Amino acid sequence: MTTVDPSPLPAALDAPDLGGLPADFTWGVATAAYQIEGAVAEGGRAPSIWDTFSHTLGKIAGGDTGDVACDHYHRWPEDIALMKRLGVDSYRLSIAWPRVHPQGDGPANEPGLAFYDRLVDALLEAGITPNVTLYHWDLPQALQDRGGWPARETAEHFAAYAGTVAARLGDRVGRWATLNEPLCSAWIGHLEGTMAPGLRDITAAVHASYHLLLGHGLAAQAVRAASPHAKIGIVNNLSTVHAASDSEADRAAARRMDGHTNRWWLDPVHGRGFPADMREVYGVDLPERPGDLDTIAQRLDWIGLNYYFPAVVADDPGAPHPHVRTVRREGVPRTGMDWEIEANGLEELLLRLTREYGARSIHVTENGSAFPDTVAPDGSVHDPERTAYLRDHLAACARAARAGAPVDGYYAWSLLDNFEWAYGYDKRFGLVHVDYPTQRRTMKTSGHTYARLIGGFRRTR
Ligand code: NOJ
Repeated sequence: MTTVDPSPLPAALDAPDLGGLPADFTWGVATAAYQIEGAVAEGGRAPSIWDTFSHTLGKIAGGDTGDVACDHYHRWPEDIALMKRLGVDSYRLSIAWPRVHPQGDGPANEPGLAFYDRLVDALLEAGITPNVTLYHWDLPQALQDRGGWPARETAEHFAAYAGTVAARLGDRVGRWATLNEPLCSAWIGHLEGTMAPGLRDITAAVHASYHLLLGHGLAAQAVRAASPHAKIGIVNNLSTVHAASDSEADRAAARRMDGHTNRWWLDPVHGRGFPADMREVYGVDLPERPGDLDTIAQRLDWIGLNYYFPAVVADDPGAPHPHVRTVRREGVPRTGMDWEIEANGLEELLLRLTREYGARSIHVTENGSAFPDTVAPDGSVHDPERTAYLRDHLAACARAARAGAPVDGYYAWSLLDNFEWAYGYDKRFGLVHVDYPTQRRTMKTSGHTYARLIGGFRRTR
């Protein structure tokens, strides 16, 4: 039985209309390996590009690294107990490639596989279904040294690694995602340079994007070969895009931004190839080989949508590709990341995936918000803004479902406060607060609310 602490919220506040969601809707929480595990030198793990990047002076706020993070590598039993308290059906986790193949290729590292083996067993024992992401940005540094994602070989090594993991866990893991937010790996990692590996090179970025998607297709094949009933998807972060003004230039900027953020990632996996307008915008030849487009367009059993905020853009010929500038709209509520809050955007994107791409099953694989939480003298963490964000976005999922979108699951980002990449530990997304010096975990009001929503949903179904 799941026990839930009484929530300090008045009951009326936390009742979004969830009508329209299917009775077997999956309620989940999500994390990613580098953001929570720590133990970067244990169990035979070798460095990833994020170890290198976070240890490079000036790259991460406060000089933070993932060396310890939430120490989940040692504290996972406690973290599974927290999931039980939340009452979730599923846990979306990522596997650290550098634990499984520390050099990227070559022999598998048994202690790395054994760690995930134990974790999966314990989840199943707790009645929680694992949803496994194979790549959440932690490329083995050894492969970066051999060219990284701009090199075709990386896609092939990724498939081999995916096959290793599926062979080991495929008897117990049924749902897989190949990549998490390849947009960030390609554009932020290779064009904007504020994520690992920190390059600013349009050719490298476009080639990385191509090989990430090729890697997705090859990995999907490898997982299916090892585990024929696996349900395979890909996780994209999509945004609704608004033009900052009605001018033709800004409207064209919005179309480019939509191409850059959404269509570049959705079209190829749906068998439509790479968008011609964006090929022109980037002006870089793709490293295409015959057959690649078919490989990329593997059947998708489900699609993952990470949604956080809308994009509002103006034309800016001097800005890096796609030559747009983000515009701040006044009077719009924002999170602690300075991201606009627009729950309707989630509804719109769910409907777009359904209507334009024929999605048959969508899981919201991430959605959440950072706010500067404080621990009250009585030890509680009251986070009304995160709680409202959660409620409003769940209501948006239900609206989309009522309008015909096959919304099958929702994973709150995140179970725990964790290493928020270039922002370090300062930005807190957790439903559970982490006091880093003591590693003490405290369920926030948003966590209590989520537990109550899940419990209430189950009772009425
Ligand atoms: C998306 C990423 O997948 C995740 O790693 C990150 O922490 C959240 N967005 C919040 O920025």
